[in-house]
Amino acid sequence: MELLSKRLAGLSESQTMAMNQKTQDLQAQGVDVVNLSVGEPDFFTPDHVKAAAKEAVDKNFSFYSPGDGYMDLRKAVVAKLKNENNLNFEPKQVIVCNGAKHALANTVMSIVDDGDEVIVPAPYWVTYVELVKLAGGISVVLPTTLATDYKVTPEQLEAAITPKTKAFMLCSPSNPTGSVYSREELKALADVLARYPRIIIIADEIYEHINFVGRHQSIAQFENVSARTVIINGVSKCYAMTGYRIGYLAAPLWIAKACSKLQSQFTSGPSSIAQRAALTALTVNNNFTEDMKQVFKRRRDLVLKGLSEIPGLKFNIPQGAFYVFPDVTACFGKSDGETTINNSSDLSLYLLSKAFVATVSGDGFGEPNCIRISYATADEKLTKAMASMKEAFSKLK
Ligand SMILES: Cc1ncc(COP(=O)(O)O)c(C=O)c1O
Repeated sequence: MELLSKRLAGLSESQTMAMNQKTQDLQAQGVDVVNLSVGEPDFFTPDHVKAAAKEAVDKNFSFYSPGDGYMDLRKAVVAKLKNENNLNFEPKQVIVCNGAKHALANTVMSIVDDGDEVIVPAPYWVTYVELVKLAGGISVVLPTTLATDYKVTPEQLEAAITPKTKAFMLCSPSNPTGSVYSREELKALADVLARYPRIIIIADEIYEHINFVGRHQSIAQFENVSARTVIINGVSKCYAMTGYRIGYLAAPLWIAKACSKLQSQFTSGPSSIAQRAALTALTVNNNFTEDMKQVFKRRRDLVLKGLSEIPGLKFNIPQGAFYVFPDVTACFGKSDGETTINNSSDLSLYLLSKAFVATVSGDGFGEPNCIRISYATADEKLTKAMASMKEAFSKLK
Protein backbone atom coordinates (compact mmCIF):
# COMPACT_ATOMS: atom_id res chain seq x y z
CA MET A 1 0.00 0.00 0.00
CA GLU A 2 1.40 3.38 -0.97
CA LEU A 3 0.70 6.25 1.35
CA LEU A 4 2.30 9.09 -0.54
CA SER A 5 1.44 12.68 0.21
CA LYS A 6 -0.87 14.34 -2.32
CA ARG A 7 1.93 16.76 -3.03
CA LEU A 8 4.22 13.98 -4.22
CA ALA A 9 1.61 11.83 -5.89
CA GLY A 10 0.95 14.60 -8.42
CA LEU A 11 4.60 15.12 -9.27
CA SER A 12 5.96 13.77 -12.56
CA GLU A 13 9.30 12.09 -12.91
CA SER A 14 11.84 14.05 -14.95
CA GLN A 15 11.45 12.73 -18.53
CA THR A 16 15.00 13.58 -19.45
CA MET A 17 16.34 11.62 -16.51
CA ALA A 18 13.99 8.72 -17.30
CA MET A 19 15.23 8.56 -20.91
CA ASN A 20 18.80 8.78 -19.73
CA GLN A 21 18.17 5.84 -17.41
CA LYS A 22 16.58 3.79 -20.22
CA THR A 23 19.63 4.47 -22.37
CA GLN A 24 22.04 3.50 -19.63
CA ASP A 25 20.10 0.27 -19.05
CA LEU A 26 20.38 -0.60 -22.76
CA GLN A 27 24.07 0.29 -22.77
CA ALA A 28 24.60 -1.97 -19.75
CA GLN A 29 23.11 -4.82 -21.84
CA GLY A 30 25.80 -4.16 -24.44
CA VAL A 31 23.63 -2.20 -26.92
CA ASP A 32 25.59 0.57 -28.64
CA VAL A 33 23.23 3.51 -28.09
CA VAL A 34 24.17 7.08 -29.00
CA ASN A 35 22.79 9.10 -26.14
CA LEU A 36 21.39 12.43 -27.32
CA SER A 37 19.08 12.74 -24.34
CA VAL A 38 21.52 14.20 -21.87
CA GLY A 39 21.50 17.76 -20.63
CA GLU A 40 25.15 18.07 -19.80
CA PRO A 41 28.40 18.86 -21.58
CA ASP A 42 30.47 15.79 -22.46
CA PHE A 43 33.60 17.76 -21.53
CA PHE A 44 35.60 17.03 -18.41
CA THR A 45 35.80 19.70 -15.73
CA PRO A 46 38.85 21.90 -16.47
CA ASP A 47 42.06 20.82 -14.74
CA HIS A 48 42.50 24.01 -12.71
CA VAL A 49 39.00 23.55 -11.26
CA LYS A 50 39.70 19.92 -10.43
CA ALA A 51 42.93 21.02 -8.76
CA ALA A 52 40.96 23.46 -6.60
CA ALA A 53 38.66 20.65 -5.49
CA LYS A 54 41.65 18.46 -4.59
CA GLU A 55 43.27 21.29 -2.73
CA ALA A 56 40.05 21.86 -0.78
CA VAL A 57 40.13 18.24 0.34
CA ASP A 58 43.76 18.56 1.43
CA LYS A 59 43.06 21.84 3.21
CA ASN A 60 40.29 20.20 5.20
CA PHE A 61 37.29 21.97 3.78
CA SER A 62 35.34 19.16 5.34
CA PHE A 63 33.14 21.08 7.75
CA TYR A 64 29.64 22.43 7.23
CA SER A 65 29.74 25.40 4.90
CA PRO A 66 27.75 28.53 5.81
CA GLY A 67 24.05 28.02 5.00
CA ASP A 68 24.11 30.55 2.14
CA GLY A 69 27.49 29.47 0.78
CA TYR A 70 31.02 30.71 1.46
CA MET A 71 31.26 34.49 1.51
CA ASP A 72 34.18 34.58 -0.95
CA LEU A 73 32.11 32.59 -3.44
CA ARG A 74 29.11 34.88 -2.96
CA LYS A 75 31.40 37.86 -3.52
CA ALA A 76 32.74 36.20 -6.67
CA VAL A 77 29.16 35.85 -7.92
CA VAL A 78 28.54 39.53 -7.21
CA ALA A 79 31.72 40.43 -9.14
CA LYS A 80 30.67 38.17 -12.02
CA LEU A 81 27.24 39.79 -12.20
CA LYS A 82 28.86 43.23 -12.22
CA ASN A 83 31.65 42.50 -14.69
CA GLU A 84 29.78 40.30 -17.14
CA ASN A 85 26.21 41.56 -16.84
CA ASN A 86 26.59 45.06 -15.40
CA LEU A 87 24.17 44.13 -12.61
CA ASN A 88 24.47 45.44 -9.06
CA PHE A 89 23.94 42.96 -6.27
CA GLU A 90 25.29 42.71 -2.73
CA PRO A 91 26.63 39.43 -1.35
CA LYS A 92 23.67 39.16 1.02
CA GLN A 93 21.41 38.94 -2.05
CA VAL A 94 23.27 35.88 -3.34
CA ILE A 95 22.56 32.36 -2.11
CA VAL A 96 24.73 29.46 -3.26
CA CYS A 97 22.60 26.35 -3.76
CA ASN A 98 22.93 22.69 -4.74
CA GLY A 99 22.75 23.41 -8.47
CA ALA A 100 20.61 25.86 -10.41
CA LYS A 101 17.69 23.45 -10.05
CA HIS A 102 17.84 23.90 -6.30
CA ALA A 103 18.12 27.68 -6.72
CA LEU A 104 14.90 27.53 -8.76
CA ALA A 105 13.22 25.29 -6.21
CA ASN A 106 14.17 27.68 -3.39
CA THR A 107 12.81 30.64 -5.33
CA VAL A 108 9.53 29.02 -6.34
CA MET A 109 8.94 27.65 -2.84
CA SER A 110 9.67 31.06 -1.34
CA ILE A 111 7.20 33.06 -3.39
CA VAL A 112 4.44 30.80 -4.70
CA ASP A 113 1.36 30.20 -2.56
CA ASP A 114 -1.57 27.87 -3.15
CA GLY A 115 -3.48 29.04 -6.21
CA ASP A 116 -0.85 31.54 -7.36
CA GLU A 117 -0.25 31.61 -11.08
CA VAL A 118 3.16 31.39 -12.66
CA ILE A 119 3.47 32.23 -16.35
CA VAL A 120 5.65 29.68 -18.11
CA PRO A 121 6.32 30.02 -21.83
CA ALA A 122 6.37 26.64 -23.63
CA PRO A 123 8.41 24.79 -24.69
CA TYR A 124 9.78 24.95 -21.17
CA TRP A 125 12.40 23.13 -19.15
CA VAL A 126 10.62 20.15 -17.59
CA THR A 127 11.30 21.14 -13.99
CA TYR A 128 9.50 24.52 -14.01
CA VAL A 129 5.94 23.27 -14.01
CA GLU A 130 6.71 20.51 -11.53
CA LEU A 131 8.19 22.97 -9.05
CA VAL A 132 5.19 25.26 -9.40
CA LYS A 133 2.93 22.25 -8.81
CA LEU A 134 4.93 21.27 -5.73
CA ALA A 135 4.49 24.76 -4.34
CA GLY A 136 0.71 24.55 -4.84
CA GLY A 137 0.76 27.04 -7.70
CA ILE A 138 -0.71 26.88 -11.18
CA SER A 139 1.45 27.09 -14.28
CA VAL A 140 -0.12 29.27 -16.93
CA VAL A 141 1.56 27.83 -19.97
CA LEU A 142 2.05 30.13 -22.96
CA PRO A 143 2.51 28.09 -26.11
CA THR A 144 4.96 29.53 -28.62
CA THR A 145 5.64 28.43 -32.17
CA LEU A 146 8.39 28.09 -34.69
CA ALA A 147 7.11 31.32 -36.30
CA THR A 148 8.35 33.35 -33.30
CA ASP A 149 11.46 31.20 -32.83
CA TYR A 150 9.65 29.70 -29.83
CA LYS A 151 9.79 33.02 -27.98
CA VAL A 152 6.90 34.56 -26.10
CA THR A 153 5.64 37.90 -27.42
CA PRO A 154 4.83 40.92 -25.21
CA GLU A 155 1.16 40.72 -26.29
CA GLN A 156 0.97 37.08 -25.28
CA LEU A 157 2.55 37.83 -21.93
CA GLU A 158 0.21 40.71 -21.19
CA ALA A 159 -2.86 38.68 -22.15
CA ALA A 160 -1.87 35.94 -19.68
CA ILE A 161 -1.49 38.24 -16.67
CA THR A 162 -4.26 38.07 -14.07
CA PRO A 163 -4.56 39.39 -10.50
CA LYS A 164 -3.28 35.97 -9.39
CA THR A 165 -0.03 36.13 -11.41
CA LYS A 166 2.86 35.82 -9.01
CA ALA A 167 5.80 35.13 -11.28
CA PHE A 168 7.02 34.94 -14.84
CA MET A 169 9.55 32.27 -15.74
CA LEU A 170 12.03 33.11 -18.46
CA CYS A 171 14.78 30.88 -19.82
CA SER A 172 17.33 32.34 -22.26
CA PRO A 173 19.25 30.68 -23.85
CA SER A 174 16.49 28.14 -23.74
CA ASN A 175 16.37 24.49 -22.94
CA PRO A 176 14.88 22.84 -25.06
CA THR A 177 14.72 25.18 -28.09
CA GLY A 178 18.09 26.94 -27.97
CA SER A 179 16.26 30.25 -28.55
CA VAL A 180 18.01 33.35 -27.27
CA TYR A 181 16.05 36.53 -26.51
CA SER A 182 17.63 39.70 -27.86
CA ARG A 183 17.98 42.87 -25.79
CA GLU A 184 15.02 44.42 -27.64
CA GLU A 185 12.82 41.39 -27.07
CA LEU A 186 13.65 41.39 -23.37
CA LYS A 187 13.00 45.11 -23.13
CA ALA A 188 9.57 44.65 -24.67
CA LEU A 189 8.75 41.97 -22.08
CA ALA A 190 10.15 44.15 -19.26
CA ASP A 191 7.95 47.04 -20.44
CA VAL A 192 4.87 44.86 -20.05
CA LEU A 193 5.95 43.58 -16.64
CA ALA A 194 6.72 47.12 -15.51
CA ARG A 195 2.97 47.75 -15.47
CA TYR A 196 2.46 44.90 -12.98
CA PRO A 197 4.71 45.60 -10.00
CA ARG A 198 3.64 42.51 -8.04
CA ILE A 199 5.02 40.02 -10.57
CA ILE A 200 8.41 38.45 -9.82
CA ILE A 201 10.59 37.57 -12.78
CA ILE A 202 12.60 34.38 -12.53
CA ALA A 203 15.37 34.52 -15.13
CA ASP A 204 17.06 31.18 -15.66
CA GLU A 205 20.42 32.04 -17.23
CA ILE A 206 22.20 28.72 -16.74
CA TYR A 207 23.16 28.59 -20.46
CA GLU A 208 24.42 32.18 -20.44
CA HIS A 209 27.83 31.40 -21.89
CA ILE A 210 26.64 28.92 -24.49
CA ASN A 211 25.33 31.64 -26.75
CA PHE A 212 26.31 31.74 -30.43
CA VAL A 213 24.94 35.20 -31.20
CA GLY A 214 26.95 37.52 -29.05
CA ARG A 215 26.82 38.85 -25.55
CA HIS A 216 24.29 37.44 -23.12
CA GLN A 217 21.43 39.77 -22.28
CA SER A 218 19.66 39.60 -18.94
CA ILE A 219 16.17 40.98 -18.36
CA ALA A 220 17.51 42.25 -15.01
CA GLN A 221 19.37 45.02 -16.88
CA PHE A 222 16.10 46.96 -17.23
CA GLU A 223 15.52 49.29 -14.31
CA ASN A 224 11.75 48.94 -14.50
CA VAL A 225 12.02 45.27 -13.44
CA SER A 226 15.51 44.86 -11.94
CA ALA A 227 14.37 45.17 -8.32
CA ARG A 228 12.06 42.16 -8.68
CA THR A 229 14.10 39.86 -10.88
CA VAL A 230 15.69 36.70 -9.51
CA ILE A 231 18.68 35.52 -11.52
CA ILE A 232 19.29 31.79 -11.57
CA ASN A 233 22.69 30.60 -12.70
CA GLY A 234 25.49 28.25 -11.76
CA VAL A 235 28.62 26.47 -12.86
CA SER A 236 27.08 23.22 -14.13
CA LYS A 237 26.88 23.89 -17.86
CA CYS A 238 29.49 26.58 -18.54
CA TYR A 239 32.31 24.90 -16.66
CA ALA A 240 31.26 21.28 -17.24
CA MET A 241 30.60 20.77 -13.56
CA THR A 242 27.16 19.18 -13.51
CA GLY A 243 28.12 16.64 -10.86
CA TYR A 244 29.56 19.23 -8.50
CA ARG A 245 26.05 20.58 -7.87
CA ILE A 246 26.74 24.28 -7.43
CA GLY A 247 24.27 26.91 -8.60
CA TYR A 248 23.19 30.24 -7.23
CA LEU A 249 20.42 32.78 -7.12
CA ALA A 250 20.75 36.55 -6.97
CA ALA A 251 17.53 38.11 -5.77
CA PRO A 252 15.80 41.01 -4.07
CA LEU A 253 16.89 40.83 -0.42
CA TRP A 254 13.48 39.68 0.86
CA ILE A 255 13.51 36.69 -1.50
CA ALA A 256 17.17 35.90 -0.77
CA LYS A 257 16.38 35.91 2.96
CA ALA A 258 13.43 33.57 2.44
CA CYS A 259 15.55 31.22 0.32
CA SER A 260 18.23 31.31 3.00
CA LYS A 261 15.70 30.28 5.63
CA LEU A 262 14.33 27.50 3.45
CA GLN A 263 17.78 26.22 2.56
CA SER A 264 18.83 26.26 6.23
CA GLN A 265 16.02 23.79 7.02
CA PHE A 266 16.18 21.72 3.86
CA THR A 267 19.76 21.08 2.82
CA SER A 268 22.13 23.43 4.73
CA GLY A 269 24.95 24.95 2.68
CA PRO A 270 26.09 23.08 -0.45
CA SER A 271 29.16 20.85 -0.59
CA SER A 272 32.23 22.63 0.80
CA ILE A 273 34.61 21.00 -1.70
CA ALA A 274 32.42 21.79 -4.70
CA GLN A 275 32.11 25.41 -3.61
CA ARG A 276 35.91 25.81 -3.52
CA ALA A 277 36.03 24.39 -7.05
CA ALA A 278 33.22 26.73 -8.16
CA LEU A 279 35.15 29.71 -6.79
CA THR A 280 38.08 28.85 -9.04
CA ALA A 281 35.76 28.30 -12.01
CA LEU A 282 34.26 31.75 -11.55
CA THR A 283 37.47 33.63 -10.86
CA VAL A 284 40.13 32.03 -13.07
CA ASN A 285 39.48 32.46 -16.77
CA ASN A 286 41.32 30.14 -19.10
CA ASN A 287 39.03 30.24 -22.13
CA PHE A 288 37.58 26.84 -21.34
CA THR A 289 33.99 27.97 -21.81
CA GLU A 290 34.72 29.86 -25.02
CA ASP A 291 36.50 26.85 -26.51
CA MET A 292 33.65 24.56 -25.49
CA LYS A 293 31.15 26.94 -27.06
CA GLN A 294 32.95 26.81 -30.40
CA VAL A 295 32.80 23.01 -30.31
CA PHE A 296 29.07 23.14 -29.56
CA LYS A 297 28.52 25.51 -32.46
CA ARG A 298 30.28 23.13 -34.84
CA ARG A 299 28.21 20.24 -33.54
CA ARG A 300 25.00 22.23 -33.82
CA ASP A 301 25.74 22.80 -37.50
CA LEU A 302 26.47 19.12 -37.97
CA VAL A 303 23.13 18.14 -36.45
CA LEU A 304 21.21 20.82 -38.35
CA LYS A 305 22.71 19.58 -41.60
CA GLY A 306 21.67 16.01 -40.71
CA LEU A 307 18.14 17.09 -39.80
CA SER A 308 17.76 19.13 -42.97
CA GLU A 309 18.30 15.93 -44.93
CA ILE A 310 15.28 14.28 -43.27
CA PRO A 311 12.14 15.22 -45.21
CA GLY A 312 9.31 16.80 -43.25
CA LEU A 313 11.18 17.92 -40.13
CA LYS A 314 10.80 21.58 -39.17
CA PHE A 315 13.08 23.35 -36.73
CA ASN A 316 14.45 26.69 -35.61
CA ILE A 317 18.17 27.47 -35.71
CA PRO A 318 19.19 27.28 -32.05
CA GLN A 319 21.26 30.26 -31.03
CA GLY A 320 22.43 28.92 -27.72
CA ALA A 321 22.48 26.00 -25.25
CA PHE A 322 23.15 22.58 -26.84
CA TYR A 323 19.79 21.33 -28.04
CA VAL A 324 17.79 21.15 -31.26
CA PHE A 325 14.04 20.73 -30.97
CA PRO A 326 12.60 19.58 -34.31
CA ASP A 327 8.88 19.40 -34.99
CA VAL A 328 8.25 15.79 -35.99
CA THR A 329 4.54 15.92 -36.79
CA ALA A 330 5.36 14.87 -40.37
CA CYS A 331 5.83 11.28 -39.14
CA PHE A 332 2.64 11.03 -37.13
CA GLY A 333 0.38 8.30 -38.46
CA LYS A 334 3.27 6.61 -40.29
CA SER A 335 4.69 3.14 -39.69
CA ASP A 336 7.76 1.10 -40.56
CA GLY A 337 5.48 -1.92 -40.90
CA GLU A 338 5.98 -2.83 -37.26
CA THR A 339 5.67 0.32 -35.16
CA THR A 340 3.15 3.08 -35.78
CA ILE A 341 4.15 6.58 -34.73
CA ASN A 342 1.22 8.41 -33.19
CA ASN A 343 3.09 11.00 -31.16
CA SER A 344 6.57 12.22 -30.27
CA SER A 345 6.85 9.71 -27.44
CA ASP A 346 6.33 6.86 -29.93
CA LEU A 347 8.94 8.43 -32.18
CA SER A 348 11.47 8.78 -29.38
CA LEU A 349 11.02 5.12 -28.46
CA TYR A 350 11.16 4.09 -32.13
CA LEU A 351 14.46 5.95 -32.58
CA LEU A 352 15.81 4.29 -29.46
CA SER A 353 14.85 0.76 -30.45
CA LYS A 354 15.48 0.98 -34.22
CA ALA A 355 18.21 3.59 -34.66
CA PHE A 356 19.77 3.17 -31.20
CA VAL A 357 19.63 6.91 -30.71
CA ALA A 358 18.24 8.33 -27.47
CA THR A 359 16.27 11.57 -27.73
CA VAL A 360 13.60 13.01 -25.44
CA SER A 361 9.97 13.36 -26.41
CA GLY A 362 8.64 16.93 -26.33
CA ASP A 363 5.66 16.15 -24.04
CA GLY A 364 7.61 16.85 -20.87
CA PHE A 365 8.68 20.20 -22.32
CA GLY A 366 5.09 21.21 -23.03
CA GLU A 367 5.38 20.69 -26.81
CA PRO A 368 4.24 17.20 -27.84
CA ASN A 369 4.95 17.81 -31.54
CA CYS A 370 8.71 17.89 -31.07
CA ILE A 371 11.61 15.83 -29.81
CA ARG A 372 14.71 17.17 -28.10
CA ILE A 373 18.12 16.27 -29.43
CA SER A 374 21.13 17.18 -27.32
CA TYR A 375 24.34 17.67 -29.29
CA ALA A 376 26.58 17.63 -26.24
CA THR A 377 28.37 14.58 -27.54
CA ALA A 378 31.35 13.77 -29.77
CA ASP A 379 31.21 14.65 -33.49
CA GLU A 380 31.68 11.02 -34.61
CA LYS A 381 28.79 9.90 -32.44
CA LEU A 382 26.62 12.71 -33.76
CA THR A 383 27.47 11.79 -37.35
CA LYS A 384 26.60 8.17 -36.65
CA ALA A 385 23.37 9.13 -34.90
CA MET A 386 22.25 11.41 -37.72
CA ALA A 387 22.86 8.66 -40.31
CA SER A 388 20.92 6.09 -38.25
CA MET A 389 18.09 8.54 -37.66
CA LYS A 390 17.89 9.39 -41.34
CA GLU A 391 17.57 5.70 -42.16
CA ALA A 392 14.97 5.10 -39.44
CA PHE A 393 12.91 8.08 -40.63
CA SER A 394 13.08 6.89 -44.24
CA LYS A 395 11.42 3.61 -43.25
CA LEU A 396 8.34 5.42 -41.94
CA LYS A 397 5.68 5.37 -44.66
C1 LIG B 1 17.16 25.42 -18.16
C2 LIG B 1 17.87 24.74 -17.04
N1 LIG B 1 17.87 25.32 -15.84
C3 LIG B 1 18.48 24.75 -14.79
C4 LIG B 1 19.12 23.53 -14.91
C5 LIG B 1 19.74 22.90 -13.69
O1 LIG B 1 21.08 23.08 -13.58
P1 LIG B 1 21.88 22.41 -12.39
O2 LIG B 1 22.50 21.18 -12.93
O3 LIG B 1 22.90 23.44 -12.01
O4 LIG B 1 20.93 22.13 -11.30
C6 LIG B 1 19.14 22.88 -16.15
C7 LIG B 1 19.78 21.56 -16.29
O5 LIG B 1 19.49 20.79 -17.17
C8 LIG B 1 18.50 23.50 -17.24
O6 LIG B 1 18.51 22.94 -18.45
